[in-house]
Amino acid sequence: VAIPAPRQGAAALVTGASSGIGLELARGLATRGHDLVLTARRRELLEDVAGELTREHRVRVEVCPADLSEPSERGRLAQEIETRGLAIDVLVLCAGFGMGGPFVEQNRDRLTLMMRTNIESTVTLAHAFTPGMAARSSGAVLVVSSIAGNQPMPNFGVYAATKAAVTSFGEMLSAELAASGVTVTVLVPGAVRTDFASVAQMTSQERRTPAPLWIDADACARAGLDGLERGRRKVVPRTAVRLMHFAGSHTPRGVWLRTVRRLLTP
Ligand SMILES: NC(=O)c1ccc[n+]([C@@H]2O[C@H](COP(=O)([O-])OP(=O)(O)OC[C@H]3O[C@@H](n4cnc5c(N)ncnc54)[C@H](OP(=O)(O)O)[C@@H]3O)[C@@H](O)[C@H]2O)c1
Repeated sequence: VAIPAPRQGAAALVTGASSGIGLELARGLATRGHDLVLTARRRELLEDVAGELTREHRVRVEVCPADLSEPSERGRLAQEIETRGLAIDVLVLCAGFGMGGPFVEQNRDRLTLMMRTNIESTVTLAHAFTPGMAARSSGAVLVVSSIAGNQPMPNFGVYAATKAAVTSFGEMLSAELAASGVTVTVLVPGAVRTDFASVAQMTSQERRTPAPLWIDADACARAGLDGLERGRRKVVPRTAVRLMHFAGSHTPRGVWLRTVRRLLTP
């Protein structure tokens, strides 16, 4: 089995567990009996989730709030997990956010925050926990990327570039760790009903997104965990999103860039 069975002294770490896809992934893992470590910035939301999961699934849930864009907070998170005597058998890297709009109009500090959250935290947290998995010859890593990372996306550009890096990193890691018994799956959703669009200031683009590209957060999480269980390298939920994935890879780049620039104009 690609997801290690729940065991005493081990847990699944879920980043971005305070809302959306990460929250549903935490619910899915609790349903399967895994003890959990939940992280994101909003402590009260994490505590609500922990209360729900402990009550409904009788699993141990530790809440470790952290701003994952900060190297020192990521270090503190790893330290707290060690202090609590937990090995991480399942690592879910879901924390992230987007920014819509033209590059030249975007706030540079927020762009930096996004790159640190989406790429740096994914790479460094994987680096903190996969050596232990490889040493135990057992572990599962779910990396949440995006269809936006499959090709350049004008008016969504730096976010798409961060997710291109995340997908590339996740697929690479699945190959490097395959021989050690550690599974890595990259989840590549299209449009998921969460707070993502309002955080990204893309609610007008959200309203124009065609219905077949949408999926609920729980269905997205289920597809990700099923793919992880089956040892799949990459999971793209929904047929329409897989078609978009194909189109993004095969449409002549100039045509693609002009079309997306028009479609994603705020
Ligand atoms: N929704 C979509 O259409 C869609 C499509 C493809 C991929 N995705 C990806 O799915 C992932 C989850 O997004 P979502 O759609 O579920 O949106 P969401 O509901 O806004 O969730 C984002 C999560 O990331 C956490 N987060 C953001 N910045 C953080 C930071 N600096 N430190 C720690 N945690 C941070 C948030 O927690 P706090 O605010 O509490 O810190 C929240 O738990 C993201 O990586 C996103 O890029 C989403």
